[in-house]
Amino acid sequence: MNPSRRAILAGTGLLPLAPLLGHAVRPAHAEPAGPIRRAIPSSGETLPVLGIGTSRRYEVEPTPDKIAPLREAVRRFVALGGSVIDTAPSYGTAEDVLGLILPQDGLREKVFLCSKVGTPGREAGLAEIERSFKRLNTSMIDLVAVHNLIDTATNLATLRDLKAAKRIRYVGVTVWRDGQFADLEAVMKRETLDFIQVNYTLDDRLAAQRILPLAAERGMAVMVNVPFGRDRLFKAVQGRELPPWTAEFDCASWPQFFLKYVLAHDAVTCPIPGMAKASYVEDNLGAARGRMPDAAQRARMEAYVDAL
Ligand SMILES: NC(=O)c1ccc[n+]([C@@H]2O[C@H](COP(=O)([O-])OP(=O)(O)OC[C@H]3O[C@@H](n4cnc5c(N)ncnc54)[C@H](OP(=O)(O)O)[C@@H]3O)[C@@H](O)[C@H]2O)c1
Repeated sequence: MNPSRRAILAGTGLLPLAPLLGHAVRPAHAEPAGPIRRAIPSSGETLPVLGIGTSRRYEVEPTPDKIAPLREAVRRFVALGGSVIDTAPSYGTAEDVLGLILPQDGLREKVFLCSKVGTPGREAGLAEIERSFKRLNTSMIDLVAVHNLIDTATNLATLRDLKAAKRIRYVGVTVWRDGQFADLEAVMKRETLDFIQVNYTLDDRLAAQRILPLAAERGMAVMVNVPFGRDRLFKAVQGRELPPWTAEFDCASWPQFFLKYVLAHDAVTCPIPGMAKASYVEDNLGAARGRMPDAAQRARMEAYVDAL
């Protein structure tokens, strides 16, 4: 059908408008489309591009009433197509809490579960990872990363043994401060890694200079931690309306604005914001759908935040 005939029929109501607007037709009650997925370079396996971070807010007393809102957040996350959950043995009770939530409702099978090792020494590091298996109530952890580059060589050797034994599927390293980038860069050049985890935010873009291009070059997936700078970015825009031009890349809230900026970088696989409420999950997953800002729009986002 030629475009003008299409337009005339649409105008008469004889054609559904939605396909012309580029949206799939869904019944009003249906869930939104699933999040965009990106590949882990070392395997080609794809992951939804937004995960849950569990530091601080998942460190609760593991009682039914304290766990209930967290269980609801994880359930909602998985129902909307999310999968990646990041934790660590040093996050208080967070691993225990996940170990209570994930075995129910078939959640464990749908979750790409990530933890860390943050203890120096072969025996102590291995003991910490074994404790994670117990606390998380699982026989397989998808990714274990060396936390903050602690005894990296020893811990990576342990993780590779566990990968060979098929108890974990991927290995990585994490940092979360700009001051760790020189050490991270050296490790990335020296080691073969499936994942790195690094800080990268709209108001702290240093990772884009060397770390993110190096990850792309070396075929490493990138998880982005602390993507809001905790409350830093929220405070910066407090009391401000979202600019109308953000609709050009399907952005409907400030959290989506901050996450879409990070996600629009080609090297980024998956930001992992802290999300302990179902409402945060619903809002933030909106960033993992629709259009991403292009280079000019990203420059505009940077200028906007830099001017605050
Ligand atoms: N070295 C490392 O490996 C390392 C270090 C740090 C963090 N991490 C990982 O990165 C994850 C994320 O870091 P983070 O949680 O500290 O910082 P973050 O993701 O920058 O900020 C999370 C906070 O943002 C707020 N938030 C989230 N979604 C929101 C929404 N839709 N609307 C309004 N507020 C919203 C919540 O604040 P409230 O809860 O106060 O409402 C939440 O606690 C951690 O959980 C952890 O998994 C790793």
